Amino acid sequence: MSARRASGEGVARLARARALGERFLYRTDEVAEETVSSTATTVPDETGFDAVGWDALRQEVLDCTKCELHKSRTQGVFGSGTPDTGFMIVGEAPGYYEDQQGEAFVGKAGQLLTKILAAIGFGRDEVFITNILKSRPPKNADPTPDQIAACEPYLERQIEIIDPAVILALGRHAARTLLGVDGSMASLRGRVFEYRGVPLVATYHPAALLRNPNLKRPTWEDVQLARKVYDEELQRRASQ
Ligand code: URA
Repeated sequence: MSARRASGEGVARLARARALGERFLYRTDEVAEETVSSTATTVPDETGFDAVGWDALRQEVLDCTKCELHKSRTQGVFGSGTPDTGFMIVGEAPGYYEDQQGEAFVGKAGQLLTKILAAIGFGRDEVFITNILKSRPPKNADPTPDQIAACEPYLERQIEIIDPAVILALGRHAARTLLGVDGSMASLRGRVFEYRGVPLVATYHPAALLRNPNLKRPTWEDVQLARKVYDEELQRRASQ
């Protein structure tokens, strides 16, 4: 779908997103059953997506033994969705279910993320979802600086190959790692940063929303901001 056609559907999309957003805000105990027809626009092939490099990178991640987490993990989690997208999501690290299934964000927090994405017009298969760490830390411990240092080059290469229109960073570990800052999420959210020239919006991790429903409102604002940045960036690229 062209950027022009995407913007022509803006009114209907916003109405649908608003309706879904209300449900996301007030009914996070349920996963949305509505199927949302997609408004996502993939980056055109002319951007030169490197499929060979992508597959090689995936294999490297799955075979990685650079940090001690490879000893305790069931498998590496490269990421889920499609690399042929302009919308990239970066979380913290795989949890129990992700480690078991080899997919990113498939547990409770992942189900909420799916619902949040639907509320801004994306199916899970229209975005790429990954993490700072590609292996599960035992007991879901916070990522250590050594683990981040070992794993971050994989994320850097994923971002380089995808060349997203926007990155949505979920939670303080993702935001701090990508931005190289130490701030609280309250101080980082609600703004547009840049990661190596790519617009980046940070917001609360879905797991934090499950614990504290008061975070739903600011998260909804942030994901709408990320969607807006995505739409604008696609239009900018299309007009070049
Ligand atoms: N939390 C994350 O940060 N990433 C996942 O993939 C799952 C839960």
